[in-house]
Amino acid sequence: MTPGYASSPANLFITGASSGLGRAMALEWATHGIRIGIVARRATELQRLSEELSRRGAIPFLYAGDVRDRSFMERTASAHISTAGLPDIIIANAGIRGKTGPEAGTDDDEIMAVNYHGARNTILPFLPGLIRQKKGHILVISSLASFLPLPGAGGYCASKSALNAWCGSLRFDLIPHGVSLTTVNPGFIRTEMTRNNPYPMPFIIDAPEAARIIRKRSKGKPPVLNFPRSLAIPLRILSILPSRLREQIFFHFRNENPPHSPS
Ligand SMILES: NC(=O)c1ccc[n+]([C@@H]2O[C@H](COP(=O)([O-])OP(=O)(O)OC[C@H]3O[C@@H](n4cnc5c(N)ncnc54)[C@H](OP(=O)(O)O)[C@@H]3O)[C@@H](O)[C@H]2O)c1
Repeated sequence: MTPGYASSPANLFITGASSGLGRAMALEWATHGIRIGIVARRATELQRLSEELSRRGAIPFLYAGDVRDRSFMERTASAHISTAGLPDIIIANAGIRGKTGPEAGTDDDEIMAVNYHGARNTILPFLPGLIRQKKGHILVISSLASFLPLPGAGGYCASKSALNAWCGSLRFDLIPHGVSLTTVNPGFIRTEMTRNNPYPMPFIIDAPEAARIIRKRSKGKPPVLNFPRSLAIPLRILSILPSRLREQIFFHFRNENPPHSPS
């Protein structure tokens, strides 16, 4: 068994907890006496979650705000450490998908600001304490979309691949300090993010099931956690194909003939 929290962490900190996967993970980890810091912009949704957490015996700490705001995240980390203590598990989960593509304009900047910079703003303020105490497990919720450039998702794929690259380096740097980091790459999950997706979402699962998978499979503190395998494997294969062949496959699935590619 992994030392520290393996079976029951005492203190969890999670961003993007007002809906979807973040909310499901807070509930999945909620046991009697666990202190859970929850962050998101929608205070009413956090309040609703905190009542549910309290009913389960957990002790919630609410922080309504924006992960893009570095100074808010620094103040939040320090408030959480002084009132609830240093977290055993930090989950950088807040994320958006947004519009993307050639006409997306500022949306790509927003996606990068939340998915990449927001995750860094979440993790960095906790690092000095974790390193000093030689403990802690950081979970970063990325996506299987980090594996390859997907059509219509340039901003999202870019933000998640940048995040994975940063996390891979940070994990390496933290090993000598006794701090672990797992990059979590889920496939499709039924949440607000995917509710209006017009395209097929193979192997989609519900948020509570995704949360159960993450809790169970992150216990061994793996470097990377990809699921479901039934989607991760084909996407990994697609990612190593020559670009033109991959594009033809995408056009085929969209029932379109490939136009002449730009050379
Ligand atoms: N759903 C999927 O198929 C899927 C697949 C792979 C990976 N993921 C990843 O899973 C994570 C959770 O997404 P989800 O599917 O659960 O979507 P969701 O239901 O839309 O949840 C997103 C969460 O992020 C929070 N958030 C967004 N922008 C924020 C900001 N600027 N500051 C603070 N919090 C912010 C939202 O809260 P507020 O709006 O209240 O701030 C909400 O709690 C994301 O990182 C996403 O990329 C999702």
